Amino acid sequence: MGIFASVNGNVVPAEQARVSVLDNGFTFGDAVYETLRTYRGRPFHLDRHLERLRASAARLGFAAPSGDEVFARRLDELLARAGNEESYIRIILTRGEGDISYRFDRVTGPTLVMVVKPFEPPPARDYAEGIAIVIASVRRNHPRALDPAIKSNNLLNNILAVREGQGRGAAEAILLNDLGEVAEGASSNVFVVKAGRVSTPPLDAGILSGITRRIVLDLCRELGIPAREETLIAADLFAADEVFITSTTKEAAPVRTVDGKLVGAGGPGPVHQRILQAYRDYALRSVSR
Ligand code: PDD
Repeated sequence: MGIFASVNGNVVPAEQARVSVLDNGFTFGDAVYETLRTYRGRPFHLDRHLERLRASAARLGFAAPSGDEVFARRLDELLARAGNEESYIRIILTRGEGDISYRFDRVTGPTLVMVVKPFEPPPARDYAEGIAIVIASVRRNHPRALDPAIKSNNLLNNILAVREGQGRGAAEAILLNDLGEVAEGASSNVFVVKAGRVSTPPLDAGILSGITRRIVLDLCRELGIPAREETLIAADLFAADEVFITSTTKEAAPVRTVDGKLVGAGGPGPVHQRILQAYRDYALRSVSR
């Protein structure tokens, strides 16, 4: 059990893993990443995460090793070595090793790092009572400056929001976009429920296309819950019957307060409960296939 890493295919305990100080990921933050988790020891939706990783890298003009099998094989080896009951998985792909310059022709790469560690689920209390979120004062990166659809290691925008949220006692900080519309959480997507209808901001609000978000929208359709992507503003969060956030690690976490104000009756709502149950069922089904 423990934290293990694979650096370009070499599996070692994480504390022994090394990447060059000349790696562009280190010198420029020139890297993309994915966070996955396992259910029953199996990676959940490796296919969709790799698709997004490739898309992120392509937007920055470098490529992931071709073939999902390479990733699957290396990840299987890493998970087997780590032997955790459930694992948190981080895949990091950098442009490669350069010479601390913008001479991309001198970069040898890419560098592919995978790290697995025991998965720590969020506290059960978060699901029983709901979490506190706040609306951050920092705005989401403007898509024409740094497109939030690129899941990059440049997480300073997110870190500023998270630090503000933590300072205000919140489990997640919601970022508005440049227009003042609701974008997304610092590491999650956000949903509201009003009069039985589920809404979440559209991708052109300048957000990451969350894999959990997509699954939740699809599950709503299967469950017969009306759901749509639409522009939301902060007032929609305050006026909602229910609010919840989605991410790989949090699944669908109910929100108890926004900026200290109770959402609806203040606990997890019935629509969220149905969605969370359906999501967990789907995750277990999908890893057993
Ligand atoms: N965060 N929005 C942002 C900015 C994110 O960083 C994430 C994921 C999401 C949700 O995406 P998904 O459902 O695919 O996990 C939305 C991961 C968990 C992370 O940063 O570790």
